[in-house]
Amino acid sequence: MTIPPETIPPVRIPPVRTPPAAVTSEGQVTLAGELAAAVARLAAAGVASPRGDAEQLAAHVLDVSRGRLALVEVISTSAAQELRHLVERRADRVPLQHLTGLAGFRRLDIAVGPGVFIPRPETEWVVEEAIRLLRVSGAVRPICVDLCAGSGAIALSLADEVRGAEVHAVELEPAALDWLRRNVGRTGLPVRVHQADVGVVGAGPPPASAASTRSAAEPVGGVLRAPGVLGVLGVLGELAGRVDLVVSNPPYLPDHERSRVEPEVGRHDPPAALWGGPDGLDGPRAVVTAAAGLLRPGGLLVMEHADEHGQAVPALLASGGPWSGSWSDIVDHPDLAGRDRFVTARWDPPGRGRPGSAGEDA
Ligand SMILES: C[S@@+](CC[C@H](N)C(=O)[O-])C[C@H]1O[C@@H](n2cnc3c(N)ncnc32)[C@H](O)[C@@H]1O
Repeated sequence: MTIPPETIPPVRIPPVRTPPAAVTSEGQVTLAGELAAAVARLAAAGVASPRGDAEQLAAHVLDVSRGRLALVEVISTSAAQELRHLVERRADRVPLQHLTGLAGFRRLDIAVGPGVFIPRPETEWVVEEAIRLLRVSGAVRPICVDLCAGSGAIALSLADEVRGAEVHAVELEPAALDWLRRNVGRTGLPVRVHQADVGVVGAGPPPASAASTRSAAEPVGGVLRAPGVLGVLGVLGELAGRVDLVVSNPPYLPDHERSRVEPEVGRHDPPAALWGGPDGLDGPRAVVTAAAGLLRPGGLLVMEHADEHGQAVPALLASGGPWSGSWSDIVDHPDLAGRDRFVTARWDPPGRGRPGSAGEDA
């Protein structure tokens, strides 16, 4: 009996994924094979973006842009060995940026490594808003201070993108200061670096414009970490009451999250960059106090905070300290993922009028 063709069930051949050959017939190592192995290794180690990380490591080893990897078929055995070594370190959850030595931030490549916080994409939006507000304000040659500057990503971006800005970067930790100075040197951007403790109101008399009633060197919020290092107003005293913009990404994670952060963060970001005390607000409190001493009336504060602090940080500015009633235009902003991420406010001490237009939308 013949079966009519239309009744014969079609044979389904499952697609066969042939792994890219790791070695060509001539014995050369293929990049595709190395990448496939790297992606599998990183995925198994729990790395969140195994393909992206593998490609960035390969691009780093081969000294080409990631986009040009598609043009590379074979690589040398020494390059393959170096790539495998880096993939193993990444699988051990060493941050990608520590392996490549660079973190992209806005228009800049920032040098990073052990001892300094890796700048994060969400902070790029903090800078975006700071620059927007400065432009709206029409400030000419604005004086900008980056408190808790780390690698200098924020300060350097301001110097790069705000024409004529006078930019100061303040950092406490010696290791971070080394990276900060290195980045200023490699970019050639005009940022003045200062070592000071943001957790101390000042090491000299507080300026008349500051609403703070604290004594000169009183620690704020328990973040006094380096006795002997001057406070912000001790180092930047000549700027007191004159600054147009204070921008900061302070340490803001609550201490109780220590066991919950990813290994890349917990093991490799410096503790001083992360932890903000029991409620995570020690760093923000210190920054707000220091900003109150630095800003001119009408000057702007732009400060990143933890996503859980979308109400606590604006409340802190509105009524949480000796500066109570001295901040206006307090607005909290989400990041691209929709999480509360940073606050903007204007220093508006009572009885000073509102001479500045910084931050006012046209
Ligand atoms: C979250 S990191 C931010 C670094 C950089 N601004 C960025 O966004 O990538 C916080 C930084 O604050 C610094 N820091 C912590 N306590 C400080 C203090 N009391 N005074 C000055 N800097 C401090 C840390 O060393 C760290 O570099």
